[in-house]
Amino acid sequence: MTETSNYKGIVLAGGAGSRLYPLTKVISKQLLPIYNRPMIYYPLSILINAKIKDILIITTPEDQENFKKLLGDGSQWGVKLNYSVQEKPEGIAQSLIIADKWLKSNPVVLILGDNLFFGPNLFSKIGKAINENVGATIFGYHVDDPERYGVLELDAGNNVLSIVEKPDNPASNWIATGLYIYDSNASGYARNLKKSDRGELEITELNNVYLRNNDLKAMLFDKEFSWLDTGTHETLLEASNFVKDIEEKSDRKVADLLIL
Ligand code: TTP
Repeated sequence: MTETSNYKGIVLAGGAGSRLYPLTKVISKQLLPIYNRPMIYYPLSILINAKIKDILIITTPEDQENFKKLLGDGSQWGVKLNYSVQEKPEGIAQSLIIADKWLKSNPVVLILGDNLFFGPNLFSKIGKAINENVGATIFGYHVDDPERYGVLELDAGNNVLSIVEKPDNPASNWIATGLYIYDSNASGYARNLKKSDRGELEITELNNVYLRNNDLKAMLFDKEFSWLDTGTHETLLEASNFVKDIEEKSDRKVADLLIL
């Protein structure tokens, strides 16, 4: 996978974590346990297994020290970990502005610090998507409650027709997960975004810029895959139970995942 060598990685691990109060009052959400590991290990594993060597961890200012204590400089995993802060949770797309200087015009894989992905040949699929990326690639997942997410409208060939953030009437059950591949234009596009009504630079809007340029592809994770968003008490517990089940399967075929 030598082609991925110019790709850098971002784990966005800031945010308010308000739905998990009081758990997140003094501890960052992404440091909470998912079964036997801190949450951030899972998204970080995705980037490392995708052969990305240079990774920026973005946290709140108050939590940065704890992430550094936990993860260090990354040499234990053969990668370089860098750290930056997001002063306020002003949107997922803001991470690309924060990372702009550090990216030095390299393309990037962005992953949210509370997203867990499992599935057969996960890394080769993500690696292939990185190698084939032109513009932007997002990863779709079929959910029962699409209105909580960025919803994908797809044509018969699974091409994305539109992406709408938290719509009242979702066009489909396919939503954009928290894993995004971008070419070197992402930071520049993010700078031109306007804040939404909820005061955020929306990642859906950035993806819509690529879509309007005819430069956005969606890879759909089918039923064999599991995507877990760990933002609520229920999903946090579900994720722990899910990982425990996988850990207990000795051959780990279900997950096919080398977790840190
Ligand atoms: P969310 O789950 O949308 O937000 P949150 O983590 O702040 O939680 P809550 O809604 O309960 O207050 O965020 C998804 C992920 O993106 C999560 O890992 C936090 C991260 N994030 C940031 O780091 N900065 C931001 O500005 C936003 C909006 C999210």
